[in-house]
Amino acid sequence: MRLKDCHNIADFRRLAQQRLPKPIFDYIDGGADDELTLRRNVEAYDGCDLVPNVLSGVAQPDLSTTVLGRKIAMPLFCSPTAMQRLFHWQGERAVSKAAEKFGTYFGISTIGTVSLEEIGETVSTPKLFQFYVHKDPGLNRALLARAKEAGFDAVAVTVDTAAGGNRERDLRSGFTTPLQMSPSLAWQFATHPYWTASYLTHEKFDLPNLSGHIAQGSDVAMNVQDYINNMLDDAMDWKAAEQIAKDWGGEFAIKGLMSAEDAKRAADIGSTAVIVSNHGGRQLDGSRAPFDQLAEICDAVADRIDVICDGGIRRGSHVLKALSVGAKACSGGRLYLYALAGAGQAGVERALGRLRDEIARDMKLMGMASVDDLSRANIRWR
Ligand code: FNR
Repeated sequence: MRLKDCHNIADFRRLAQQRLPKPIFDYIDGGADDELTLRRNVEAYDGCDLVPNVLSGVAQPDLSTTVLGRKIAMPLFCSPTAMQRLFHWQGERAVSKAAEKFGTYFGISTIGTVSLEEIGETVSTPKLFQFYVHKDPGLNRALLARAKEAGFDAVAVTVDTAAGGNRERDLRSGFTTPLQMSPSLAWQFATHPYWTASYLTHEKFDLPNLSGHIAQGSDVAMNVQDYINNMLDDAMDWKAAEQIAKDWGGEFAIKGLMSAEDAKRAADIGSTAVIVSNHGGRQLDGSRAPFDQLAEICDAVADRIDVICDGGIRRGSHVLKALSVGAKACSGGRLYLYALAGAGQAGVERALGRLRDEIARDMKLMGMASVDDLSRANIRWR
């Protein structure tokens, strides 16, 4: 399979599956426990149907929206995801440049593999810093100061990681960071030469945003679950979130909340956005899908702050449905990660391009001139 054979996100997923050693593919693709929430996140969009308006004479729909204080050219952006240079040597450099090309937000994870400073210097597109709150207050202060200095437009505090999710695919496949060599991993390396050749020939990477705070090895220095369980502040509460919003003093989102009550509290403490998300089904299995919770959250806070629907987006029509319910924008991880793993920057550009074209085509088919015009009149629940 080649990049030109990829016409939708399912195709990119197959390409990634072919190119990545199984433990790495499963790390991206997998979810927690029985992966019920992982599946529901995507299926939830089938719970309603779009109702088009015909003969509306729309030739060129306007896909732009304003979210987290910045105008973006399409209502979909790249959620922050960890360790992108493990998936493809270009990592965050590729994803940020692709986001820039499509004029949309790029989110970088605290456990990204490119520094905040480099992203600040090289990327002109709107930039979101995903902030994990650590037990060490000095590290937290330093990270926020670095993000500010590097010119980030917004901060999103992730709040769905009070404990590391139980990702059984990773246990079965033996996924660790750094990768621990074993006969089965050696076989995976040998049978996935595209990934292996680039992994062996490109510079090793670490977690530059945590430099000096965890033991750095020649590779990523620790297991993500250990990082969540050992280093993150599992006693964090609303008071702490409010203080972070104040300290940051700019566009600020809570990422990973799922209820209207929590969304109201987020607005009350000074958040300018909420990212409705369950971490792509990687944390609490059995949690409802973001799209299923979207209507009640929009009803509670969309008149005060931006609501962003994160997770399960695989089609342009999914974005149209979320915006019809009341989201200001959507975001996603796997929708670009499969493409990154399969073909680097060219892959991410193709994936974002396919999704943008789907959104534009569907807007025309819906007879809608602007994404701002989408409303619940455009959908019917099954
Ligand atoms: C993530 N996600 C994530 N979220 C976050 O706040 N910090 C992080 O470091 C990561 N890392 C990460 C790695 C990988 C491999 C995946 C797939 C996801 C969650 C991410 O931001 C987003 O919420 C989900 O990816 C949304 O679900 P979809 O779009 O992948 O279905």
